[in-house]
Amino acid sequence: MKRYTLPLFITVAVVALILFLPHLFPQRTFRTFASDEALRQAALSRNMLPVPQSYEALLDVVDTPDNPLNRKKISLGKALFFDPRLSKDMTISCASCHKLSEGGDDNLPAAVGYKGRVNPLHLNSPTVLNAALAKAQFWDGRAATVEEQVGGPIQAPFEMNMTPKEVEARLNADAAMRQRFETVFGESSVTFTNVRKAIGAYERTLLTHGSYDRFLEGNNSAISPAAKRGLGLFISAGCKGCHTGMSVGGQSIQKFPLRHYVSDYVGLLFKGNIQIKESPFPFENRGGFKGRGGELRFRVPILRNITRTAPYFHNGSVKRLEEAVRIMSKYQIGHEFTPEQIDDIVAFLKTLEGELVDY
Ligand code: HEC
Ligand code: HEC
Repeated sequence: MKRYTLPLFITVAVVALILFLPHLFPQRTFRTFASDEALRQAALSRNMLPVPQSYEALLDVVDTPDNPLNRKKISLGKALFFDPRLSKDMTISCASCHKLSEGGDDNLPAAVGYKGRVNPLHLNSPTVLNAALAKAQFWDGRAATVEEQVGGPIQAPFEMNMTPKEVEARLNADAAMRQRFETVFGESSVTFTNVRKAIGAYERTLLTHGSYDRFLEGNNSAISPAAKRGLGLFISAGCKGCHTGMSVGGQSIQKFPLRHYVSDYVGLLFKGNIQIKESPFPFENRGGFKGRGGELRFRVPILRNITRTAPYFHNGSVKRLEEAVRIMSKYQIGHEFTPEQIDDIVAFLKTLEGELVDY
């Protein structure tokens, strides 16, 4: 008997320690910032930058040798963005799903396109506002630039349902349109490549500026104390590790959910039957989309104007921003925020609302 006593004791002690450990560190505390200036510098040094307000400064940020910007090209792209001729039955334009005055999306869980067809993967329309600042486009980041992205919706049978040839024929039949293309691109007829370039050029100007930018520019009273606490927490808890850059997101492709909890699975056991967790997500799984390569990797969403782009996540399963933040804190940070912390984060996210800058 005796030779079991020590191992038994050690086992019990280890188990007790493991069970007790969380009580030793009940709340992870996050760094706070001593002053508004310290908070501002912390954000700026992490590449959380304000959106520029002059055309020259805009060019420094978004101009590209592959599609050099100029005002005529931008205004041609704007006309095309609102032109329903880019869709088969001439009822849908880019602006149908990306309403610029309503956060740059459609506020539907899943996009609805040609003849009422719903996105087959139940994908939510992301905002087009500030999208040009992202390093990759789409929920799985499969397009590198906004110019490349444009080809997708025009040809998708459940979006605009056109072929490049049909687009070219339709626009070439319009003499005034052909003239505008010739002025901008110096080619006598409209090509699909140039349609993509013109729309892309316009999208590069769809940047928004709001109270968050004013705070970063030096105005301490631009945002509330709650928003400042939220911004501090956003930085110190590590949200900024993924949602970063001028667009507060869009810079990388990341795993989601990053963490798993036994409790998610145990909850299922209690429901009566032992089963494998049906969804990898902490919300209703609609559409079956599993990100890049089916590996649960997603292009990190842009958080500018997030208060205007409900519902949330790739399949629009979550209606409330508070719930989206709670899910993020639990599954991406590994520390579920308290309701007060969530309120502070939401107060900060509200400052990411902005108005389109008139370049
Ligand atoms: C039927 C609705 C619909 C139409 C029409 C539509 N889109 Fe989209 N858009 C979506 C959906 C849904 C996605 C996400 C699809 C995905 O990730 O696979 C998306 C993604 C995008 C993105 C990527 C944003 C990001 O942050 O990843 C941009 C940019 C965009 N659309 C611009 C456009 C342009 C320009 C047009 C017109 C040529 C257009 N869209 C037409 C629904 C639409
Ligand atoms: C490891 C990277 C990572 C971290 C850290 C992270 N996020 Fe996210 N976040 C993502 C990804 C990826 C998605 C998209 C998941 C999806 O839709 O399936 C996302 C989605 C979101 C959304 C919904 C966006 C939309 O358009 O639907 C919000 C809001 C959000 N995150 C806020 C936060 C907050 C607040 C924090 C800090 C508590 C945080 N995130 C930390 C990667 C991250």
